[in-house]
Amino acid sequence: MNVDLSATWQEASRVTLRGRIAVVIDVLRATSTIVTAIQSGAREVIPVETPEDARLAAQKTGAYGAVLGGERGGLKIEGFDFGNSPYEYTPHSVGGKAVIMTTTNGTRAFAAAREADITVAAALLNIGSVANVLLHEGRDVAVICAGTEGRVSLDDLYCAGALIERIVTPGSDWVLNDGAKLAVHWYGSNTGTSFDVLASCAHGRRLAELGFHRDVEYCSGMDTVTEVPVLKGRSLVSR
Ligand code: MLT
Repeated sequence: MNVDLSATWQEASRVTLRGRIAVVIDVLRATSTIVTAIQSGAREVIPVETPEDARLAAQKTGAYGAVLGGERGGLKIEGFDFGNSPYEYTPHSVGGKAVIMTTTNGTRAFAAAREADITVAAALLNIGSVANVLLHEGRDVAVICAGTEGRVSLDDLYCAGALIERIVTPGSDWVLNDGAKLAVHWYGSNTGTSFDVLASCAHGRRLAELGFHRDVEYCSGMDTVTEVPVLKGRSLVSR
């Protein structure tokens, strides 16, 4: 089996996704927030590309209790119910509801994954459960890191490396592309904690400047969530 890693969602457009399981990663913060929303009992999370798409989707879904979430520039979008902080997505705020979400990079990565046979959302929070799904499915994997505005994000690469290391055990027949090898190397070369890594990468520092230091701390938690959101049609739902 193969693991092919794209370091940004833009790069994923050059990869053949048919026949593969796609793993979308945006540790800071979109997939961490989506995983949290589903764990909190959201009925579905609908990732869309723009705020306008979100408002249109809300009009269609409105009668069924849709809320709008996401960010631009890291901050809540005007008129939206929630920003992109996982702390906002509690059982009380999203339980039983559809969350329509748009973020700068993360939700676009789901659009980039649309050709894949199966698409799941991964973060450090649910990394063990995602690894189990990949081992259970036993098919070629496309890891799609969201990146930040077309550039590599070390937080996503770190999570990807940790995930790949869990599935590529000695003696297994996985073949990694160069990006996947780089991610494993980057993950293994870190001696600090996952929080140290996330807090020191560019996006982690930017979030701290915006006052979201606690989000970085939360998103660095490993194996704290068991849910693996999977794309069904246009919605991410509990697997
Ligand atoms: C994104 O999709 O670019 C991120 O989730 C941005 C953020 O941290 O809010």
